[in-house]
Amino acid sequence: MIAALLALLLLAVTPALAQTLLDFTDDERRAIVRHGPWPMPWSGDASNRGSGNAGAIELGRRLFFDTGLSASGTVSCATCHDPQRGWSDERRVSRGLLDVVRNAPTVADTRWNRWFGWDGATDSLWSSSLRPLVDPREMGSTPATVAARLRATPELACLYRRAFDAPPGDDAERVFVDAGKALAAFQETIVSGATPFDDFRNALARDDRAAAAGYPIAAQRGLRIFLGAGACNLCHHGPRFTNGEFADIGIPFFVAPGMVDPGRHGGLQALRGSPYTRLGRFSAARDDEAALATATVERTHRNFGEFRVPSLRELARTAPYMHAGSHARLHDVVRHYSEIDLDRLHADGEQVLKPLRLRDDEIDDLVAFLESLSAATPPRARDVDAETCR
Ligand code: HEC
Ligand code: HEC
Repeated sequence: MIAALLALLLLAVTPALAQTLLDFTDDERRAIVRHGPWPMPWSGDASNRGSGNAGAIELGRRLFFDTGLSASGTVSCATCHDPQRGWSDERRVSRGLLDVVRNAPTVADTRWNRWFGWDGATDSLWSSSLRPLVDPREMGSTPATVAARLRATPELACLYRRAFDAPPGDDAERVFVDAGKALAAFQETIVSGATPFDDFRNALARDDRAAAAGYPIAAQRGLRIFLGAGACNLCHHGPRFTNGEFADIGIPFFVAPGMVDPGRHGGLQALRGSPYTRLGRFSAARDDEAALATATVERTHRNFGEFRVPSLRELARTAPYMHAGSHARLHDVVRHYSEIDLDRLHADGEQVLKPLRLRDDEIDDLVAFLESLSAATPPRARDVDAETCR
């Protein structure tokens, strides 16, 4: 009894004694290092003439929090992408003017997205920022209303001029698209911080075993499952833990009796019909690699019920999970993968998922690893020097 107490006391006062490092193989080590460094390089969005422009960033910040852009005057982007809630809303599915059928993803780190939305219906950050403005369930506005607000509000008009070198003109659609580009320029500055996993990964990369041993042992064991038996990194790979593509992992996609969410299949149809893609007249880069991807992506039957592979950074702040918020806790998500029902997976092609049949302690370990992918402080927008503008 006394010996046990003494051992406990020793653990409490000298945490170093409790630290250990699993004997990761060279292959595991290489796989771990590939999940960094963080943040990854980024070079701006060539399709957005406001990208990186301080005036556009400041205009975007004002618009992001402006309820005056919605039909009712009560909903702003921040209603569903609240900086205090990891730039999301903690709801299962979002509510604007009406309920929508999907869970709001965080807008942090979206500057690295290839496709946007759970279904990839848009191919740029500016285009995915226009969608909610006019969606009748979200903000219910129109290009004319958005343009009128920019023209009529002196400070917004001034910031617009500073960002785009001309006052908001008569072409309402042009002003509307520029509002989306300013919103994108602002969101591009929202990047999540370094996590306990990043510290561990960097320590391994420089072969600093003492520093690496500071990473909780449960997270190390969970990481081993993530890379090994779980094969999670087949889809959740790279520094953002996503391949940026779409997959079906057997999450039910009924949204109401007799109504389904077609996922990527519907997203590609919307992309084809949109005037606001990287290929359209509002894009500043219609022939780069990203535009080529938009031009060549094809819709196939297997896209039905596929959803985007989400980033796994900042999970601690973005519950509930999955495209319709069906899973409340990370434990529920891991249990889903552990017990996955193969009959649910209707997509043909390569079969990468199988029930993992994890023990309870292994589920805890995998959750500990997933929790280590969030930073101590919430993602923040970069400060810019904003002189007053009238
Ligand atoms: C009613 C809640 C609501 C409002 C208001 C709202 N959003 Fe969203 N947002 C969502 C939901 C839900 C999704 C997922 C949509 C989908 O998958 O089709 C989303 C997706 C996004 C995405 C894509 C993120 C990603 O990782 O693909 C961006 C960017 C975004 N919103 C920006 C904005 C901006 C900018 C505004 C304001 C103009 C805004 N949102 C207003 C709920 C909202
Ligand atoms: C075949 C590709 C694939 C594999 C393999 C895979 N995932 Fe996923 N993951 C997805 C997709 C797609 C979604 C979103 C599904 C949806 O919403 O319908 C997702 C969602 C998640 C989410 C929810 C994130 C959020 O923000 O909502 C977590 C957590 C997660 N996966 C962890 C894991 C873990 C742990 C493993 C390994 C046991 C794993 N994934 C294996 C594709 C995959």
